[in-house]
Amino acid sequence: MIGIGSDHGGFELKEAVKKHLEERGLEYKDFGTYTPASCDYPVYGRAVAKAVAFGECDRGIIICGTGIGISITANKVKGIRAALCSDCFSAQATREHNDANILAMGARVLGEGLALKIVDTFLDTPFSGDPRHVRRISMIEE
Ligand code: RB5
Repeated sequence: MIGIGSDHGGFELKEAVKKHLEERGLEYKDFGTYTPASCDYPVYGRAVAKAVAFGECDRGIIICGTGIGISITANKVKGIRAALCSDCFSAQATREHNDANILAMGARVLGEGLALKIVDTFLDTPFSGDPRHVRRISMIEE
């Protein structure tokens, strides 16, 4: 199960990502926002982050205008490693090296085509399991 959420800045891209996940036959839960009206990104970043941290969702995708505010919010939740990605190289590397459990994107930064490629890369790349990466990840948590 993939948790997905955005503020108004990411609303349109969130809808496109949902359609893409449906086409891939992947299940998701939409944590809002549900309209394009102005709203506060921490509400949605935190909701997705908690769902991933508590095990309700395996991975998360969060979107705001830049991806910055919503990723900062998600990374405040214990156990969350949210990676803000604007390219496929970073999306692959953050899964292999950081075992990132949430992908953050900026809808005002990315075109839809690139954003969907980043989603696919993030979802399809496994964690390497390399001991040096396991060690470094264990050093992140306070
Ligand atoms: C909303 O205008 C905008 O600030 C938000 O989407 C995001 O970019 C914040 O980091």
